[in-house]
Amino acid sequence: MILVTGGAGFIGSNFVLDWIGCEGTPVVNLDKLTYAGNMENLANLSNDHRHIFVHGDIGDSALVGDLLKKHKPRAIVNFAAESHVDRSIYGPADFVHTNVVGTFNLLEEVRSYWSALADEEKNTFRFLHVSTDEVYGSLGPDDAPFTEETPYAPNSPYSASKAASDHLVRAYHHTYGLPMLTTNCSNNYGPYQFPEKLIALMILNATKGRSLPIYGDGQNVRDWLYVGDHCEAIRVVLAKGIVGETYNIGGWNEKANLDVVHTICAILDEYLPNSSFVPHVSLITYVKDRPGHDRRYAIDAHKIERELGWKPKENFETGIRKTVRWYLDNMAWVENVASGNYQNWLAQNYVDRGIS
Ligand code: NAD
Ligand code: TYD
Repeated sequence: MILVTGGAGFIGSNFVLDWIGCEGTPVVNLDKLTYAGNMENLANLSNDHRHIFVHGDIGDSALVGDLLKKHKPRAIVNFAAESHVDRSIYGPADFVHTNVVGTFNLLEEVRSYWSALADEEKNTFRFLHVSTDEVYGSLGPDDAPFTEETPYAPNSPYSASKAASDHLVRAYHHTYGLPMLTTNCSNNYGPYQFPEKLIALMILNATKGRSLPIYGDGQNVRDWLYVGDHCEAIRVVLAKGIVGETYNIGGWNEKANLDVVHTICAILDEYLPNSSFVPHVSLITYVKDRPGHDRRYAIDAHKIERELGWKPKENFETGIRKTVRWYLDNMAWVENVASGNYQNWLAQNYVDRGIS
């Protein structure tokens, strides 16, 4: 039995599906079901007794304490977080609440549970904390990619809150001996991503004939990691990672945003040749930049390859094709997540950028 937090979100749900498919052992999934959490992502597990869903907050000490006592997990994988930079600019409080205070409360309950375990279980227990490359700050065009030794320099309320949680995780290992592992990954993309992040938003907007909003000059660079590769990397770190260590996980796919959007448009032209929106690139619209917009992220993923033997299977060209295909084949999922509060988000983030 493992405990996954945030397992109804984008990466977490991919991970739960992947884990049950590959490892076959049970998962307790604790998720608050914020706007980003969606039980439809887990529909394939609705009759599977190996998936135990618990609706709740990682910051709810009593609930987490009870769950640990009841299910006695051998490992915890912590995905639960507020995860979107633009939302953190409008409302940082939720980010501090979940990413900092929530992680702290979770760590306290885990410390108490772990301290009471028998020696052998204590030694084999693992807490894997999922973090981001954004904690390392922003790179210039000629800077070397982030390594595990790069000093932290977070620039957004989101990345600052994730950095704080990483520091707490580090301190709980150093001070109390908790068997921690931390992973810092680059931008993920793939099935079940909420259409507020670049790739999912662009696919949805393009199929609907809406504007494709490019912040600034479109030359900001991200290193794209296919979510299936990320899930596999986490399983490898959990199985083989050295306690107390950090592992960077990247896709070796640095791309400027404008190139990403051009690629999506070309694939849509090919898959939807009769659409009245061909060529989809004509929908591209330059809009007001994000405040404090980090210019470039890039991950040096040599350590995990050298020490644990993992490297990504997908390159951007194969991963983005799979992703576009998935969205086109799952329009019912997209329509459901794009109703209700999602419209309020579009109004908040894009109307003052001149598009609706
Ligand atoms: P997401 O926003 O899609 O999902 C987050 C999930 O956490 C949701 O299901 C939400 O309901 C849940 N959640 C939020 N607050 C909670 C709380 N207090 N208690 C319990 N559950 C709560 O995020 P994601 O993209 O799947 O990211 C997962 C993790 O990976 C996050 O920690 C994020 O910082 C990290 N990460 C993501 C990316 C990326 O590109 N998506 C890149 C690097 C790191
Ligand atoms: P995003 O998916 O929000 O991830 P992050 O900011 O965590 O890297 O954004 C990826 C890049 O795409 C980032 O440089 C901002 C840019 N972007 C746009 O140009 N337009 C958009 O509408 C969005 C959501 C992002």
